[in-house]
Amino acid sequence: MDPDHESMKRAAAEAAVEMVEDGMIVGIGTGSTAAYAITALGEAVEAGLEITGVPTSDAARYRAKTAGITISDLDMVDGIDLAIDGADQACEGTLIKGGGGAHTRERIVDAAADQFIAIVDERKVVDQLDAPIPLEVLPAARHLVQAAVDDLGGTATVRTSGSTDGPAYTERGMLLIDADMGMIEDASAVAKELDTLPGVIDHGLFIGLADSLLVGTPDGVEREW
Ligand code: 5RP
Repeated sequence: MDPDHESMKRAAAEAAVEMVEDGMIVGIGTGSTAAYAITALGEAVEAGLEITGVPTSDAARYRAKTAGITISDLDMVDGIDLAIDGADQACEGTLIKGGGGAHTRERIVDAAADQFIAIVDERKVVDQLDAPIPLEVLPAARHLVQAAVDDLGGTATVRTSGSTDGPAYTERGMLLIDADMGMIEDASAVAKELDTLPGVIDHGLFIGLADSLLVGTPDGVEREW
């Protein structure tokens, strides 16, 4: 654990939580940066803030419930006022998400929000996206998807889990394939290709979804967009 980057993650998360108002329905993100937001939200709830959280994953649900946040589901609420979620990489309005394998549900919750605030530390902000793009894939389509990623000029790696010594499965029992597309010149074009691959439930390219990107830096929190 790098204490400096942990402080930057926490600072970005706490700045996002400051935007939460009483009575809001809040989308609850997944990952270690979002976890800082959940902790801060839990503390605010303990101090009297009334919110309902809509989690982006079972992990986020567990964490939020443990923090004392009232939980609901997307199909039980009229809408989401504000979602707070992390990202693996960010560049000019586009995020790569899915490092925690939760991107399918994250997209649904984040897209449903009136405002989606992405939170990262400064290491995640790049001039050009180049992180592997997580794909949630039906197990039966594994070879088909790997071949299709190869055809697109990328390299597909099935994500493995240290704990099971085998593939990592999502909460829906799907595989995760990380598609390394090298330097991503045109994220929209790549997203369009990935959108059409049979067997891919969703990919981690979030284009134009985040209304704001809050970045934790050594000098405080900066708003990138
Ligand atoms: C999970 C995600 C996470 O938000 C992303 O991986 C960032 O995680 P962390 O804050 O731990 O770096 O997309 O699917």
